[in-house]
Amino acid sequence: MKADPMVVVEEITKSFTRGPALIEVLKGTGMSVDRGEGVAIMGASGSGKSTLLHLLGGLERPDGGRILYSGKDICRMNDREITLFRNTHVGFVFQFHFLLPEFTALENVMIPAMVRSQRPDEVWPRAMELLKIVGLTDRVEHKPGELSGGEQQRVAIARALMMSPQVLLADEPTGDLDPSTGSKVIGLLSQIRKSLGVTMIIVTHNMDLARTMDRVLILKGGLLEPLSV
Ligand SMILES: Nc1ncnc2c1ncn2[C@@H]1O[C@H](COP(=O)(O)OP(=O)(O)OP(=O)(O)O)[C@@H](O)[C@H]1O
Ligand SMILES: [Mg+2]
Repeated sequence: MKADPMVVVEEITKSFTRGPALIEVLKGTGMSVDRGEGVAIMGASGSGKSTLLHLLGGLERPDGGRILYSGKDICRMNDREITLFRNTHVGFVFQFHFLLPEFTALENVMIPAMVRSQRPDEVWPRAMELLKIVGLTDRVEHKPGELSGGEQQRVAIARALMMSPQVLLADEPTGDLDPSTGSKVIGLLSQIRKSLGVTMIIVTHNMDLARTMDRVLILKGGLLEPLSV
């Protein structure tokens, strides 16, 4: 089958300075992820997984290298372009869901569309459909504080999918969940990947989640390498 790269990372470098110390986190690493592919990224704490994911989502910029989405380098985008890219091309799911506490589940899912000035009556059918996909039809009016941890994470997944992103980026999406709730979220992510064909790049310490992906990469010494078993 011909490769159809959705995301290509080339020679990415990223360091942080903290006082006199220079922390070299990414040292010229690369990867290519095909359209519809699911890739898990694992590695020791502090190896740079979240840093890499933030660069992939345009939340931070690398010191060097390129990050191409369908051939377009996001590192060369100006601030306005990168904000638009983040809103429309990628969906984020974090370990802690970052839902807005004052808003209902339904409103939280609609927010990415409202930010783009879409009218609530235009966007709510899609938000309702996504809440159905994540199995929360009977919780749409609940605020985050009235939902369980797993339900909150499912709302966060629905919100991440609101703008029909080509790529879903997730940073330890099961990290804050008990094993049984975690396995439900894992099942949901695989179901979404199959049914919606979304490309997924998921950082995780959870081997059960990693196993549901097509490939596992390990971030070690600032470089990505395939998992060798
Ligand atoms: N803004 C920052 N300033 C200085 N150092 C930072 C900054 N962000 C991250 N680091 C350092 O960079 C390294 C990589 O951090 P990162 O958060 O990417 O690790 P991680 O692989 O996601 O770890 P974990 O599995 O614990 O979440 C760490 O040593 C961290 O202390
Ligand atoms: Mg991290």
